[in-house]
This record gives sequence, structure tokens and C-alpha cells, in this order.
Amino acid sequence: MPSFMAFLSHPYFFAALSASLTLLVVQLLFRKLNKRHSRKKYHPVAGTIFNQMLNFNRLHHYMTDLAAKHRTYRLLNPFRYEVYTTEPTNVEYILKTNFENYGKGLYNYHNLKDLLGDGIFTVDGEKWREQRKISSHEFSTKMLRDFSISIFRKNVVKLVNIVSEAATSNSTLEIQDLLMKSTLDSIFQVAFGTELDSMCGSSQEGKIFADAFDTSSALTLYRYVDVFWKIKKFLNIGSEAKLRKTTEILNEFVFKLINTRILQMQISKGDSGSKRGDILSRFLQVKEYDPTYLRDIILNFVIAGKDTTAATLSWFMYMLCKYPEVQEKAAEEVKEATNTKRISSYNEFVYSVTDEALERMNYLHAAITETLRLYPAVPVDAKICFSDDTLPDGYSVNKGDMVSYQPYAMGRMKFIWGDDAEDFRPERWLDENGIFKPESPFKFTAFQAGPRICLGKEFAYRQMKIFAAVLLGCFRFKLKDEKKNVTYKTMINLHIDEGLEIKAFNRYRD
Ligand code: HEM
Repeated sequence: MPSFMAFLSHPYFFAALSASLTLLVVQLLFRKLNKRHSRKKYHPVAGTIFNQMLNFNRLHHYMTDLAAKHRTYRLLNPFRYEVYTTEPTNVEYILKTNFENYGKGLYNYHNLKDLLGDGIFTVDGEKWREQRKISSHEFSTKMLRDFSISIFRKNVVKLVNIVSEAATSNSTLEIQDLLMKSTLDSIFQVAFGTELDSMCGSSQEGKIFADAFDTSSALTLYRYVDVFWKIKKFLNIGSEAKLRKTTEILNEFVFKLINTRILQMQISKGDSGSKRGDILSRFLQVKEYDPTYLRDIILNFVIAGKDTTAATLSWFMYMLCKYPEVQEKAAEEVKEATNTKRISSYNEFVYSVTDEALERMNYLHAAITETLRLYPAVPVDAKICFSDDTLPDGYSVNKGDMVSYQPYAMGRMKFIWGDDAEDFRPERWLDENGIFKPESPFKFTAFQAGPRICLGKEFAYRQMKIFAAVLLGCFRFKLKDEKKNVTYKTMINLHIDEGLEIKAFNRYRD
């Protein structure tokens, strides 16, 4: 994605900035006049979107500081008010109690449509309800669960072999990059039943797809800061011309897979589909869907499942290196739960990480959850308000306002978690018997909450726990450079800026 600094130095930026400032002033005057006639009260104005731009590289710190002053506040934007809340009662209201009044809206739909089509992430209302119903059914089947576990096992062994080589040769690993490739391979195979192998790069087609996928996601995100994207799309120039090209590559690849699978199913009269566990085959088994609809549904899963789990696992590795006592405790739990004395083969060890063993890993579950509390993969999540409303704290929001809950800021609020809110302490998630105790999803919002709660939550925990248990069982990890400042890169998902360089040391191997 073009860097934000390059964007700031673009001549269009200054034109857009002056136009936006003028609009902002006109809007402020208009609202001031209007306010005299209205008895509604609004949340305090804590800044403008220009403050957000100036603080772009430390955006979540900036918004956390504002939230510490006002649990809910507004930022001025020339086009709409932006309301940001950390108040759990407000979050429950927008995500559950008055769910129908807050959604993606046309603004998000238009920005995302070229990449995500009419998939679950872009739509509201009936279109969303139908996809949610069929997808949640498929996601809860034993077949998908067993199939995905087999894929996670296969991919974590590939990863462990790479880590092992680095441990033996005492070289450094950029673990975030490896995790991104590994989770893409996993979700792609679960989605389409085909191996991509972006980790080892064995398939040229797979590599082209993976690159096109990453570029399309970044260019789609760029639309949120590029006020001229629609004109550029119309003229087919710049970032929009590139986006068109990369989505064409994606579509060609995906449609080929879908059409081949449809053909296979027709030849075998549906028999081959009943034996396959991937999402595409499961959908084809249920009904004859249109290939475009299938593309939309499945690509949304790939987008949802790739960066989120990889980013969380990367922050988790960072926390383990920062807190070696947590690392040792979690490794000890893995050893006990899997009944491992020595590891003579990675393949064998992976099979000792059974469902029952994972169930017993309460401390590991707590440590991953604590990572998500402080480093939620989706740091801010915006909804559009569909009609004038009053939130439970008594303040109003208007039709068209953007209302966001903030998992990143919420994880650091003392009024939610107590004085040690900013400390990494997995124990806060355990009861007196060491069993994991969940929190209200309106306080711990990393997976969203209410009817649109993350559909892949269990799937994600399973994958993250298998990966974490196998890595921890085999190796001890340290940061390559303890003094290096590790922070996030501001984008839709919370990635570690410039990745995470670590060293691995063999643990119990013969
Ligand atoms: C640590 C991992 C994950 C986190 C933190 C996470 C978080 C979230 C969040 C915050 C949302 C709401 C986004 C929105 O407003 O549109 C969401 C939605 C969703 N997630 Fe996840 N997710 C994770 C992993 C996954 C995985 C692995 C999958 C699938 C394989 C998945 C599938 C979905 C789907 C389908 C939705 C849309 C639900 C709907 O709109 O009804 N997620 N997730």
C-alpha cells in the first residue's frame, strides 16, 4: 500500500485538505445555528479528523488518551460526526439492543464492494441474515472442524521445520511474515480445499494469488483516505487501475477453482463433495449457488481469517518474549496437557495436541485472550447510524453519524479492567481453580458482540492454540533486539510495524 507519508505529500492532499476545512467550518456554523433550536445533547467534541491525521502513526494511542478523558466523544469530520465509545452499555446497545439501527451502510459497501462483493462483511439486512445463517451452520459442523484441524496440523509442522532450521543455525526469524503465510495457507485450504503453499512458495500460481490478495486488500483500505478514488476508478488510473488489475487476477484464480469443483461434483453426482470438508464443497453440497455469490462468500472468509489470527499470534509471541515467566508457564502447561516427556518427531508431537489436550490448556487460552485484550486484531470498528437515536448514556446520535466501538482503547481503560488495565496479566482470566472465565463480550470486544459476533471465533482459537502449543512445546523464544521499540502499523488490522524479529532455541528435542 502506498505509504501514508507519500499520501500526505501528494498535491491532491492539500486541495482535499482546504476543501475539507472549508466544509468543516460551514458545517460547524450550520450545526451551531441548528443547535439553538434543538434540545438534544451530544457527546463532547474531543478533536477533528485532522488531529487523527496528524497522529496517524500513533492513532490508537491518541484515541486511547481521548477515551481516558471522555468515555464517549465525537470527532468532527466535514462529512459526518464520528462518535467513538468505550462505554460497555453503549457498546451493548449498538451491537445488540438496537442492532437493526447500526450497520455497514452504503459508505462501507461502496468502498469494499470491488474486493468483497456482496459477502458477509459488506452487507446488512436480509442479505446479511441469509449468509450468516448458512455460514454459521457450516461453521458448526464436525466435518469442517475435523478438516480444519488436519490443515492446522499440517501447516504448523511446516512452520516448525522452518523455525527448527533457524534454531539450529542460530539465525533470526521474522515470525509475523511466516505466520501471515501460514494462516493464509490454512484458511485458503479450508475455504477452497486447494493447497496454496505461500509459505514454501512451491506454486507459482499460489504466489501470484497471495500477492494479488495482499495488494487488493491494501488498495481497498486506501480508499478510506483517498477522497478521489471514485474519479480515479472512473478514469482507471493510479491506485484504482492497479486495484482493478489485482482483483481480476484474484477473480480468475478463484473462478477457476469454483468452476472446476462444480464440474467435479457434477461428474461424481455430488458424491465427491460429500467427502470433502472444505467450505466451497460444503456450500455446493447444500445448493447450486451462483459462482459469483460463492466467490463473495468464500473470499470474505479468507479476508476474515488470515491477518486476524496471524497478527494475534505475532503479538502473542511478542508478549511471550517480554514476559519469559508467562512463556515458561504456558510451555509447562503444554507439556503436561499433552503428556510429553521428549519430542523426537514434530509430526508425532502435533498429534498429541488433541482436542482434549487443548481443552486442558486454560493458561494458554488466558494468555491468548490477554493478548487480544491489549492488542485486538480489529482495533476500531465503525458502524453507520441509520436513524436518529439516543444512546443509554443519554446522549444523541443522528442518522448518518459514524458510531464506533474501540477494542484497543477499551482494553486499556481502568474503569473497565481496574488499575492494572495496561499490564499483561493472563491470570485475570482464570478463576481460583485455574479455569478460564470469560468476560462480558461488551467489555472484551475483540470479537465484536451481539448477532454479528465474529463467526470464526472458535475456529480462530483452535488454530491459535494449536500453533501456540506446538511452537511453545518445541522452542523457547527471545527477541532479537530487546531494546527495539515494537509498535503497531496503523491499518484496519493491528499488525506489528516492520514485523517481529525473534530467535528460537530448541526445548526438549533428543
Ligand atoms: C483472532 C482472530 C479474529 C478476530 C480478533 C476476529 C474479530 C472479528 C471482528 C471484530 C469482527 C467484526 C467485524 C465487522 O464489523 O465486520 C469479525 C467478524 C467476522 N469474523 Fe472474525 N475474527 C478473527 C478470526 C476469524 C476467523 C479465523 C474467521 C473465519 C475463518 C472469522 C470470520 C468472521 C466472519 C465471517 C465475520 C463476519 C460476521 C458477520 O458480519 O456476521 N474471523 N471478526
